[in-house]
This record gives sequence, structure tokens and C-alpha cells, in this order.
Amino acid sequence: MKTGKLLIFGAAALLTACSAAYEGNDAFQVTPLKDILAPIRVGAAIDNWTLQNEQNMELFSRHFNSATCENSMKPIETERNEGEFTFDTPDKVTDFVLGNKDAVMRGHCLIWHSQCPSWLTEDSTLVFQRMKEHIFAVMNHYKGKVYCWDVVNEAIDDGPGFLRNSQWTRCAGQHFIDSAFVYAHQADPDALLFYNDYGLNNPQKREKCYQLVKGMLERGIPVHGIGMQGHYNVTMDYSTVDESLTRFEELGVLIQFTELDIAGGGPDRRSMRRQMGQDRPNGTQGQQQDQMAAFGGYSGNGGLQMPELTDEQKMHQDSLVTEAYRKFFTVVKKHRKSIHTITFWGLSDNYSWLNSRSRQNAPFLFDGEYKAKNAYFAVRELWNNRK
Ligand code: XIL
Repeated sequence: MKTGKLLIFGAAALLTACSAAYEGNDAFQVTPLKDILAPIRVGAAIDNWTLQNEQNMELFSRHFNSATCENSMKPIETERNEGEFTFDTPDKVTDFVLGNKDAVMRGHCLIWHSQCPSWLTEDSTLVFQRMKEHIFAVMNHYKGKVYCWDVVNEAIDDGPGFLRNSQWTRCAGQHFIDSAFVYAHQADPDALLFYNDYGLNNPQKREKCYQLVKGMLERGIPVHGIGMQGHYNVTMDYSTVDESLTRFEELGVLIQFTELDIAGGGPDRRSMRRQMGQDRPNGTQGQQQDQMAAFGGYSGNGGLQMPELTDEQKMHQDSLVTEAYRKFFTVVKKHRKSIHTITFWGLSDNYSWLNSRSRQNAPFLFDGEYKAKNAYFAVRELWNNRK
């Protein structure tokens, strides 16, 4: 009897060991991220590039249950010229997403200083009418399909001012945010309306965002959520994210991470150049280009070719990113009851706006070969042990 029990126990242990080994790190086999993190929704920024690749679509369907168009719903794409609308790409993306039975679609974005056609803000007597018509047309087109919108994106100043000095404040004044939300609510009363911004873990910016949304709520402006973009890196202090969540929770609005990626886990051109004794003094064009390259906006190589990362560098990068994800998700776990959705700004490391010819980041939980990374397993372990 004893031996029998032992045998059964032994066989069970062996089976468990085998199934763990069998699971491996194939992204198409490992536990879906959306199941691990439920009831928090897990999103990804996708776009036309996703639909051209079966594996990307499969990866999305397996692990994600929310999507955002990375670019194609922005005003410069949907209404480059006044009254001429282009919805082909976002329509295809939306159809694909909603074809997944559990997935929802976020809208990004209606009013932003970037990727904004100049006609919208060139005439201060027409600006509110034009803003309203743009918002109405886009939201009507996606009514019943897109359940929430980033109505205003990145309006808070990074410096001492309250609002960013942009074409919107210059043409429409300080009240453009209230108006945008009022129009959005009129256009689709069922849609959830978000204020979205980056750097909201920064104490000054956090406080401005808190005051902005608090003021809107007090004035009866229909704002339902704060989108913390979440373009993070491996060196930052994640307790600042914790503090922002605690502050925003006081407002009682929905909180989403809308554009999560963790950068900085690899050498960039500047450090390469420094290593090669080619550093340029601060403030030169070279440094600006490096900054831009680090954020994906500059593709020139300035005569310096970035070599492929060595295996050692890749491992180092992987451990930094894993550790940062562990820190981030420890904060998320603490606040899990108030976090509605976490959207990654991409699917896997084979495509990210952070990557350029001069800088390779590895900002996600899946690598460029559709393998779950150490960061994925760190998050899973953290979540399975949640209390
Ligand atoms: C980025 C896209 O990822 C890039 O492809 C594009 O060139 C620039 O915009 N904040 C936002 C997003 O709200 O819309 C931005 O997306 C990233 C920063």
C-alpha cells in the first residue's frame, strides 16, 4: 500500500515536471497573459503591420483582449484634409479585433498637438466647430465598436506651466479640453472618455493631472478615466507609479495603463560613441539626434553603425527589463482593484516604436521570435502568488 502510494506520487511528480518542461517558452503555448491578469484587461497597440503577419495576429488573439490602433485613428490619418475621411486601416484593425470574441477596442486619439493636421487649429473663430465636427465624425463612425476614447492626449506641460503651450492652447485657449470632452460625450454618450498622458508618475505632472481631472469633475465635464501611458525604462523608480495610482484613486475615475513599454535595456549610439572615444559635447546636434533615436524618431546613423547586440549584452538587457517588469507589476498588484486595462505599446520585441537602426530595445514580454521572455515568467509568477 505504502509503495503503491509512493509510486503514484512519484508518477504524478514526474508528470508535473514533464508538463512544465513541455510547456517551454513558445508564446503560442504558454498561459495567455489575459488569463493570468484577469480581470484586468490586457491590450496591445497594433495596426496595419499586425494584419500583414499571421503570427502577430495569432499572438494578439492568444494573449490580448483589448487593442488600440498605434497610429491609424489619429487625426492626421483619419482627416488629413478637412472633411475627407480615411477609415480603411482602422476599420480593418477594428474588424479583426472584434472578431476575437472577448476583445474590445480603445480609440486613440481625438485631440493631440502631435500628428494633428494644421487645418484644425489655424483659425480661432472656427476651431471649436472644426474640433466638434472631427470628434463627431470619428466617434460616430466607431459607435458601438470603440468603447472608450483618449479624448485629449498629452496636454499637460512638462515644465512649470499648467497646460502645454501648443497649437491647441494658442488657437482655442485653455478651455479646449473641456470642450473636447463635452463634444465627445454628445457624439457617443456610451463611450468612456479618457485624459491620456505620459510621465504621470512625475510628482509635478501627477499633481497637474489630478487637478485637471478634479476640476473637470467639479465642473460636470464628462471625464471617466485617466490613461497613464507608461513609457517607462529600466532605471526609473517605480514607487513613483505607486504614488500616482494612490493619488488618482482618490478621484474615483477609471485608471488604465495605455501605452506600456520598458525601454533602456540596451546600448544606444551615445554610449557606443563614448566607448569609441567619439562623444560629442552636450547640446550639439549629435546629442539631440541620439535623444530622438532613443525614442524612435530618428533613423539616420550619423556614420556610426550599431553592431548587433552580443549574447552577453542581450542577456544583460533581458535581466534589466525583467527586473523592471517585476517592479512595475508589483505596483500593479498592489493597485489591481483600480486598474482597468494594461495596454502594451506593441505585441512583441520584433516591432516597437522604440527601435531604430541605432537602438535596439526589448521592451515587451515576448521576444522577436515569439518566445515568452523571462519578464513574462516573472509577471506570471508574481500573479500566481498574488495575495
Ligand atoms: C507613436 C507611434 O508609436 C509611432 O509609430 C509614431 O511615429 C509616433 O507616435 N504617445 C502617444 C502615442 O500617445 O500615440 C505615440 O505613438 C507614442 C507616444
